[in-house]
Amino acid sequence: MRRIFSGMQPTGNLHLGNYLGALKNWVKVQQDGECLFCVVDLHAITVPQDPHKLRNATRETAAAYIAAGIDTKRNILFPQSAVPAHTELGWILGTQTPLGWLNRMTQFKEKSSKSRDLELLGLYSYPVLMAADILLYKTTHVPVGEDQKQHMELARDIAAAFNRAYGTEYFPLPEPQIMGEATRVMSLRDGTKKMSKSDESDYSRINLTDDADAIALKIRKAKTDAEPLPPTLAELEKRPEADNLVTIYAALSDSTRAAVLKTSAGAQFSQFKKDLTDLAVAKLSPITATMRELMADPAEIDRTLAKGAEKANHLAAKHLREVKDIVGFWRG
Ligand code: AMP
Ligand code: TRP
Repeated sequence: MRRIFSGMQPTGNLHLGNYLGALKNWVKVQQDGECLFCVVDLHAITVPQDPHKLRNATRETAAAYIAAGIDTKRNILFPQSAVPAHTELGWILGTQTPLGWLNRMTQFKEKSSKSRDLELLGLYSYPVLMAADILLYKTTHVPVGEDQKQHMELARDIAAAFNRAYGTEYFPLPEPQIMGEATRVMSLRDGTKKMSKSDESDYSRINLTDDADAIALKIRKAKTDAEPLPPTLAELEKRPEADNLVTIYAALSDSTRAAVLKTSAGAQFSQFKKDLTDLAVAKLSPITATMRELMADPAEIDRTLAKGAEKANHLAAKHLREVKDIVGFWRG
């Protein structure tokens, strides 16, 4: 049986990239096996967070999962910090992770190069904790956006290193599932930069909390060039901003870029942006509305998270016991 695990950081500003690159695919794969969807708050504190906002962002991220269509009856939805086994396994896996592997991680290099204050052990060992998240449940499949590919390769390498060191096949090597047409959604202001929570311009992204007017304004202001849409993918790919809008359109309509070009080649951006706005509002506003309803009753979200944490703890404790036995820790 497949076991599926994925997570998102509760750092506010969940955006269209998170939705198309991750959430939408989670909703698709939830039928395929036993799923755990985690709000990774331990990862969130690798950069400074306001404690009051963090707790609420955890609820809001959970609300986004549910609003996007994650079924909390079938799946386990929980906050990472409520399951202590993640950090324990993280320590054990750290003992099998050469520094050379971590030194290659581009996300650490990017984030820590922004400020000396971010040259932190936690940020550096972030991918080891991510490997622990995944391996703790003996996960087989991990649906993520393209930016997590390198971390996924590392998780596989760490699993293999542990298995080798202890002469076991305990951990399956988890497969990344990088799915759909929009595995890397780009900024609306710069087609060469990833759409990101931390971009200082709010015009660079469509947030899952944006209303129809905000979505319309951001798409209208999205950077484009002066040419109409081209007929071929090869021509489209030379134009990053145009490519991004076509990709978003394709992903939101469960289509492909080639199919979008078939119907829209020759269109001016004034028209295409209007069509994209209508589509984005139609797809996102029900999610936004449900998120708002769910957030009006935080106690209910807390109950869902507590139930999820209980189930996750149960599975995690069993596996951690097995790992500790393999490692040779004392047990009474
Ligand atoms: P994060 O917000 O960094 O915790 O990311 C949560 C999930 O969203 C991960 O699976 C990421 O790969 C995915 N993701 C984040 N940004 C983007 C983006 N611009 N395009 C596609 N997927 C993304
Ligand atoms: N690093 C991931 C991101 O920023 C979040 C994450 C943490 C994750 N642990 C995970 C994703 C385990 C998948 C599986 O997007």
